[in-house]
Amino acid sequence: MHFDTSAGRNPIDAQTIVGRPHRRIDGALKVTGTAPYAYERHDAVADPTYGWIVGASIARGRVTRIDAAAARAAPGVLAVLTTLEYDAAPPGFRTTLTLFGGAEVRHYHQAVALVVAGTFEEARAAAHLLRIDYDSEPARCDLAAEAPKSEPIADRDGPDYPVVDRIGDVEAALAAAPVTLDESYGTPDQTHAMMEPHATTAAWRDGKLTIWTSAQVVSWHRNSLAQALGLAKEDLRLEAPFIGGGFGSKLIMRSDALLAALGAKAVGRPCKVALQRPLIANNGTRRAGTIQRIRLGADRDGRLTAIAHHSVNGNLPGAFAEAAVAPTRLIYAAPNRDLSMRLATLDLAEGNDMRAPGEAPGLMALEIAMDEMAERLGIDPVAFRIRNDTQVDPRRPQRRFSERHLIECLELGADRFGWARRNPVPGSVSDGRWLVGMGVAAGFRQNLLMPSGARVRLEQDGRLSVETDMTDIGTGSYTILAQTAAEMMGVPIEAVTVRLGDSDYPEAAGSGGQFGANNATSGLYAACTTLRATVAARLGFDVEDVVFADGMVTAGRRSAPLLDAAKDGPLTAEDRITYGDLDKEFVQATFGAQFAEVAVDRFTGEMRVRRMLAVIDAGRVLNPLTARSQVIGAMTMGVGSALMEALVVDTRHGFFINHDLGGYEVPVHADIPHLDVVFLDHPDPVSSPMKAKGIGEIGLCGAAAAVANAVHNATGIRVRDYPITLDKLLDRLPRVA
Ligand code: MOS
Repeated sequence: MHFDTSAGRNPIDAQTIVGRPHRRIDGALKVTGTAPYAYERHDAVADPTYGWIVGASIARGRVTRIDAAAARAAPGVLAVLTTLEYDAAPPGFRTTLTLFGGAEVRHYHQAVALVVAGTFEEARAAAHLLRIDYDSEPARCDLAAEAPKSEPIADRDGPDYPVVDRIGDVEAALAAAPVTLDESYGTPDQTHAMMEPHATTAAWRDGKLTIWTSAQVVSWHRNSLAQALGLAKEDLRLEAPFIGGGFGSKLIMRSDALLAALGAKAVGRPCKVALQRPLIANNGTRRAGTIQRIRLGADRDGRLTAIAHHSVNGNLPGAFAEAAVAPTRLIYAAPNRDLSMRLATLDLAEGNDMRAPGEAPGLMALEIAMDEMAERLGIDPVAFRIRNDTQVDPRRPQRRFSERHLIECLELGADRFGWARRNPVPGSVSDGRWLVGMGVAAGFRQNLLMPSGARVRLEQDGRLSVETDMTDIGTGSYTILAQTAAEMMGVPIEAVTVRLGDSDYPEAAGSGGQFGANNATSGLYAACTTLRATVAARLGFDVEDVVFADGMVTAGRRSAPLLDAAKDGPLTAEDRITYGDLDKEFVQATFGAQFAEVAVDRFTGEMRVRRMLAVIDAGRVLNPLTARSQVIGAMTMGVGSALMEALVVDTRHGFFINHDLGGYEVPVHADIPHLDVVFLDHPDPVSSPMKAKGIGEIGLCGAAAAVANAVHNATGIRVRDYPITLDKLLDRLPRVA
């Protein structure tokens, strides 16, 4: 099905099942610990071996020698694979990294050896017997120090935008503006901190490889691994039915998959490899820290006349920029604009995708700047944002937003949150020893369209089977796909079996960039549309006026049981959704308004988020329960971004010191109060036949800035360097009550 004209009325609009709050159909498997994750495929492989990855202990240079004799002689050891014995594997999709092979070391904890043994403990013990010699070079790992040597860089995901994106004359507009701002903001390196590590079980049979791995996008991993191994794609089967979180860390293939495959081959038995938790931060990818300079100019009425946003981050040579200016292109109107990014070289783990890449750190800066500007103008920060709304792409004004209801998000949110009770004078509200403040921020994130396929089968017993290589990374894909098939075919959700994450199934969008839900359900919509036509033909109906409901197929006064169509055997339909130019004709995006109330201890600087509200405009909400979970999870991540999360660089050796869940702080339950979410109801017929848009990332966008702005409103202290830890407040707190 090619989607190139705005969707009209279709079977999903009935919303008897789609749009309803169904609990996860995979929930029982998850909470009983019986969902088989990649490292736990006891059902699938007998007699596995265990790999332990050894990471480089330098950040930059070469491995000169590896003495593996003692390790090879250690109890239980079956093989030791060293990087010097393998050719450098070609980098996979969306990365510049060689995951294994060759002498060159580009970042700390790059995999340099794999020890394979009969037990995990034997592999771990033997790994410590390896002697590895290096020639090391000084690592470049301080962004502030390297930034002056940075180079202009394009946005890999925004190829339509010039490297230096200028409209009008920003300098003249700033010079003429009665109210201006010129500030710098810092966001730190972050790690994904997902629950399940990168993990793979690999097994070879007759020259063909099967891997069970933790992958967000099955086809990307499969293609990357096949290429790294020099294997035909057809000879590699990848299964990823359950995934314990990813946040972008599993969007691209990592070393566990390659090493499990190589390890299994070396020992002639299945091999399991998980990235040990302390390796993840330096061996995996990170969200790159940024330094962002923002300049704003406005007239006295609070209309922005100029926006300049420049971001610099660091990455490995040849790698990508964190597109922090991306949201600034589209969120506010202003006739004069100047946006650009620069990239410095840093010899740290590769900067790559993490939930809402670009938008999340960009809005952490921009939405503080907007708060500061509102204060300088003496305008309420909600009103200031509303005043600068745009309904068109400022670069191409003929290109409108398909659906954009940011103003409604802000207005409804202000009302629900009790914004009118906020005291605009910072530091003026106390509750005992606590200073209390409220903050707001706007959220923006692109809606991405990706081709996506699915297969659906009507079984002879009337059940439906859905198969697609779509993944469920904890988001609810199983459930919304079951809802979609049930709605399309007029059966209860319990009659649908969904099978995901297998490269033998039709290729789907996968989970990333908040594109999973809308595209994967649209692919299934396409397959179901084909199945409906087959069923109608079998039963002698004209598909144009047929209704599928309650297990019956009805047209006019005639009806027949759906089951009858399959009485001679199961009926299968397969199709995929592809897209025309509707995302070029219209800007498709999602919006949010984030509100936070934060209390700050006036003596210790301890910060406590008391409550938050997000109002989200993301097209049709396919399942309000799983969608809400996406948003409250993202808001929790926003609290982490605001107050806790930061990878800390050891600048002597070029690595992240706090590389485990003990040292990398993320919010726990006690840090998070009641979070409230309101969804606007604006289906977007330009986005897809489902009229849905992304939901997985918009809840993070703006969340951290809302907390930061609340801290400022509570204390009068403006911190522009995340995370806002109490040491940044301590000397400046107004102590006298
Ligand atoms: Mo997301 S960072 O595209 O998994």
